[in-house]
Amino acid sequence: MNTKNPSKFDTPFKKEVFKGLTAYPKYLSSKYIYDSKGDKLFQDIMAMPEYYLTDCEHEILSKHTKDIADYFGNVKGGYDLIELGAGDGKKTKILLKLISETETNFTYKPIDISKNAVESLTEKLSKELPKVNLDAEIGEYFEVLERLKTFKSRKKVILFLGSNIGNLLHPRAIDFLTKLKDTMNEDDMLFIGFDQKKNPQTILDAYNDAAGITEAFNKNLLARINSKMDANFNLDKFKHWEVYDPETGTAKSYLLATEHQKVRIEAIDLDVNFEEWETIHTEISQKYDDKTVAWLADEAGLEIITDFTDSKEYYKNYLLKRK
Ligand code: TRP
Repeated sequence: MNTKNPSKFDTPFKKEVFKGLTAYPKYLSSKYIYDSKGDKLFQDIMAMPEYYLTDCEHEILSKHTKDIADYFGNVKGGYDLIELGAGDGKKTKILLKLISETETNFTYKPIDISKNAVESLTEKLSKELPKVNLDAEIGEYFEVLERLKTFKSRKKVILFLGSNIGNLLHPRAIDFLTKLKDTMNEDDMLFIGFDQKKNPQTILDAYNDAAGITEAFNKNLLARINSKMDANFNLDKFKHWEVYDPETGTAKSYLLATEHQKVRIEAIDLDVNFEEWETIHTEISQKYDDKTVAWLADEAGLEIITDFTDSKEYYKNYLLKRK
């Protein structure tokens, strides 16, 4: 039995790996998939034909750009456009381009946990849209949310794209939205993507592509533990597995041990036993309908101003404000 006290680990990553792999059933947080290789693989996922989310949100932002920008408004004093989990900012660029062509006074403030993503976004944006006032930050949502409270001086429009909210089960989503609401003033807005319930096969294909990109992406979590913590996961002895429950709208990603095995994680002094077909749960990708979004918003003290959807109605962006 390992007696090491997890609170002694020097990084949150180590602490969480210890906690998740000594729990039953085992779990690991998908946020640790995103190192530079993980970022690259996620870009590959977003480019796959099966991963409809990116294309749908892109279509919404392209088709309704003017409408959306008008809703954000051209207020006196301008506003801060704060993007949580900005990633490569490809979709946001459409909005930024249009808003920067109007006389709107605004600052774009992208926030992402990935240093890589923030740095390459900053570099690209300052070249492509030099007129946009840019003030990027590296950090975790909740940490940054706290800091957002000090941004009260002018109007805030918070962007949360890519259905990242779907990584949270409803109680945590309500908690998250409530914290966002607490950082918002009366005129502030939240523009947020919610992937919709649809044919379950379409969802399964998006999260389990034939080419195996999603598999490589999910397994990057193990690769990262190998390299960061001197561990010996054999990636060939794990398989990506996806399930979707059309009633609850919850898609879940797993890594499945295909045979009985032991893994050594040197940096946290841990031996992990895997039974054949034992699971590591890595991700939730929640799907929604209007009723559920209205309920979540209401529980969080928010209300829907309007929503925008794509031609297939696979995906929706909702504009919310405080109740
Ligand atoms: N959860 C994100 C999404 O819903 C990213 C993601 C896509 C993901 N495929 C995955 C995370 C597979 C873990 C495993 O789009």
